[in-house]
Amino acid sequence: MKQINVSTGKPYPVKIGHGLLSGCGAEMQGIGLYGKALIVTDDNVAPFYLKKAEESLKQSGFAVFSRTLPHGEGSKNFDELVKLINFAAECGFSRSDTFVALGGGVIGDLCGFAAAVYMRGVHFVQLPTTLLAAVDSSVGGKTAVDLAAGKNLAGAFYQPALVVCDLDTFATLPQAEYANGMAEVIKYGFIRDKELLSLLQRPFEEEEVVARCVQSKAEIVANDEFDRGERMLLNFGHTVGHAIEARSGFTLPHGQAVAIGMVIVTQACVKNGLCPPETLDVMHKLLERYGLPTAAAYPMSELFDLMVNDKKSSGDAITFVLPRETGRCELKKLTRAEWTALLS
Ligand SMILES: NC(=O)c1ccc[n+]([C@@H]2O[C@H](COP(=O)([O-])OP(=O)(O)OC[C@H]3O[C@@H](n4cnc5c(N)ncnc54)[C@H](O)[C@@H]3O)[C@@H](O)[C@H]2O)c1
Ligand SMILES: [Zn+2]
Repeated sequence: MKQINVSTGKPYPVKIGHGLLSGCGAEMQGIGLYGKALIVTDDNVAPFYLKKAEESLKQSGFAVFSRTLPHGEGSKNFDELVKLINFAAECGFSRSDTFVALGGGVIGDLCGFAAAVYMRGVHFVQLPTTLLAAVDSSVGGKTAVDLAAGKNLAGAFYQPALVVCDLDTFATLPQAEYANGMAEVIKYGFIRDKELLSLLQRPFEEEEVVARCVQSKAEIVANDEFDRGERMLLNFGHTVGHAIEARSGFTLPHGQAVAIGMVIVTQACVKNGLCPPETLDVMHKLLERYGLPTAAAYPMSELFDLMVNDKKSSGDAITFVLPRETGRCELKKLTRAEWTALLS
């Protein structure tokens, strides 16, 4: 088991290892939580893991309630959030009680936002069950729901009190979902962890790789909890990736779009002498190794307008994450003229 401490305004531990789900109740008790616990999950995750989580919490003295939502991004909205907090109110949840997210990023983002607003904030615990949630969404305190106008447009910064990642839950994860998470894992390597890129070139220990990613995320978030600077590094490949996702009518999975986004930006940097060609070779090899695409089906010109709509843009200027060498990226704010020139 590995533990990483996240030093945000409210610090918290992230525990990563095999077989941890059956001990999640004891971990919660260990940080001083007690009383009622509301486990929020989805209908893919519940049949595999809900009972185990419930039993663990009951054994540690929690009064356990649960809600199972339909799986998928479609559940990440205000309707589901309102149903959730009404349910908590009906069950008599008070400020000393806890909401527990058991699932991927959809459940984590929704449950976290609900925990942030119910009675102006109840305790919140993340039990990530996807690779993406483990390395990215469960750590850092971004919570949100989607609006008709776009994804994640309403939310709050609300850190969990504890994250317990049981790597055994990945055993039931569909291959495509695992690949989605791998795109984010590879992203950490290119933004700040060259050693991780070497580990990924051979069969690896999941515990070590997930822990390295969480360590990176923890350091970035501790330096920039509210996303005003360094945290934007996590957006590597995402500005172009989000445009590709939108252009595909959201049929292309996020990880695949991010993979292509990273390649496009790296190609542009290599062409403009900002980054050595070797970086692009390493990227191609790793993405192919993990079943991720390296080229878009759309010409760049069709993506430009979609990029301006990205949340990370201000006016037509966009802060880009540019690779400068293998394992190091830099933030650079570019005007539309500059980024179209770079990417054309
Ligand atoms: N808060 C953040 O910082 C942050 C960062 C990145 C992404 N996100 C958000 O995360 C979401 C994507 O997360 P995701 O990729 O985990 O998606 P997800 O939660 O939709 O999970 C993917 C699919 O896998 C299923 N699943 C989950 N765990 C499983 C398991 N162990 N076995 C079998 N099936 C399982 C789910 O039911 C779902 O169908 C998006 O809404 C995105 O906006 C948030
Ligand atoms: Zn992402």
